[in-house]
Amino acid sequence: MASFITQSHCTVTTPVAQICTMRGRRILLIVGGGIAAYKACELVRLIRKAEGAVTCVLTEGGAKFVTAMSLAALSENPVHTTLWDLKDEVEMGHIQLSRQADLVVVCPATADLLARMAAGIADDLATTLLLATDKPVMAVPAMNVRMWQHAATARNVARLRDDGVAVMEPDEGAMACGEWGPGRLPEPETILAGIRQMLDAEPVAAEESFAALSASTIPRQFAPALDEDETAAAPPAEAEPAPPLEASGLLLPKKGKARAAPPTDPDALDRNVDAGPIAEGPPNDGPLRGCHVLITAGPTHEPIDPVRYIANRSSGRQGYAIAAAAARAGADVTLVSGPVALPTPPGVRRIDVESAREMADAVKASLPADVAIMVAAVADWRTRDVAADKMKKRGSAPPALILTENPDILANVGASGRLRPQLLIGFAAETENVIANATEKRKRKGADWIIANDVSGDVMGGHANTVHIVTASGVESLPQLPKDEVAEALVDRIAAALAAD
Ligand code: C5P
Repeated sequence: MASFITQSHCTVTTPVAQICTMRGRRILLIVGGGIAAYKACELVRLIRKAEGAVTCVLTEGGAKFVTAMSLAALSENPVHTTLWDLKDEVEMGHIQLSRQADLVVVCPATADLLARMAAGIADDLATTLLLATDKPVMAVPAMNVRMWQHAATARNVARLRDDGVAVMEPDEGAMACGEWGPGRLPEPETILAGIRQMLDAEPVAAEESFAALSASTIPRQFAPALDEDETAAAPPAEAEPAPPLEASGLLLPKKGKARAAPPTDPDALDRNVDAGPIAEGPPNDGPLRGCHVLITAGPTHEPIDPVRYIANRSSGRQGYAIAAAAARAGADVTLVSGPVALPTPPGVRRIDVESAREMADAVKASLPADVAIMVAAVADWRTRDVAADKMKKRGSAPPALILTENPDILANVGASGRLRPQLLIGFAAETENVIANATEKRKRKGADWIIANDVSGDVMGGHANTVHIVTASGVESLPQLPKDEVAEALVDRIAAALAAD
């Protein structure tokens, strides 16, 4: 059973490996240097089993993990390893090799290979082919969890996705290095499913067809990126008629055409998917008129079983106060809210979520925005497994909860390329070294401003706040104020910053 996990954490278990032929389709498979390279051998076997043709390129690092002989035997084709193979240059040449395929797949794509691809470096056969190809490119990352989560890798992945490369999300789980988290190479069947999506292979059996799989699992980042001017000129998402999933087909980037293509991921475009009605407010001519301001607020609840969850003390008051102040200033406000007991401020579109992953999905679906203010106290961790039934006391030993890291919504928005808001603001709840930690966080998360607040008192859940606005040009400290006055002060500064741009 293949498990195809996208950034929206939709998991599908569908036997996809044998359901349709790949006859006549040609894959150029670049095998990078990582422990997961052995899975590339299985991928070659699956492509051949599905009657696809595969030619392998083995990087120097890849050759430390698998041999050219194995790949040649499995692919039934010569394996290419060097840019300086004169015979190939005479007979074929690397340009031609890069263009003979229908699809170029990089698997495993190491952090280094992704970085060189993103930078457009062409210093070996693999990277030269990637730069020379006019065919769609798909990259399947595999690396240590910290490397995957590093800001540099996030930047490189965002850049590649902007460039039209389909970068698969890695699997999450135990790694060869002993750590746990996202970074594992997906199973070969899952990669094959991704390849089929890219090739737009013919679906067969209706129920388990690949079309059904693609419709339910297509990750947002497989959708083509918009040019900045297209983003700006795009009509409001509500006005965009979302194509039915069956009709929208496979949402894949087409090299060269990606920038001109309309946004096609209906879920990602429909800002109102789960939003309640906009609470009525007076029409406003304020300084944020015409701006879409996206705000997260409140805690997240991370389920343990159907009745228990992990939460924190956030009341949502500061985020709601900012949403209200932004709406009063004339902004079009989307408020993605964790579970709180607060009324929706007038003029605000509210999307209710519970968990961090739901919040991440709602934020992604609400982009583009001119300003994003991430105020939510997002749980850093969730339980790795959620029990389907209420966990029972058994004997005296309490159950062990294994935690896994949640997506960092702020950092992901910071790395969202052309969809990154013009002004991205995060909050930093700190109990010590408040400004130093916030300054470091601003850089690490790719935010423009961090609003640092000392939560050692009763700030979380309380009505007053003392904040320091940390920007690239310095720190402005406000006195202790009620949260709605903090919100007003912040909105004033946002309006001034946008006007100055
Ligand atoms: O790392 P820390 O939780 O202190 O960062 C706080 C900032 O990052 C806040 O703006 C919060 O909304 C945001 N955040 C997030 N996703 C997470 C954790 C924090 O967006 N998983």
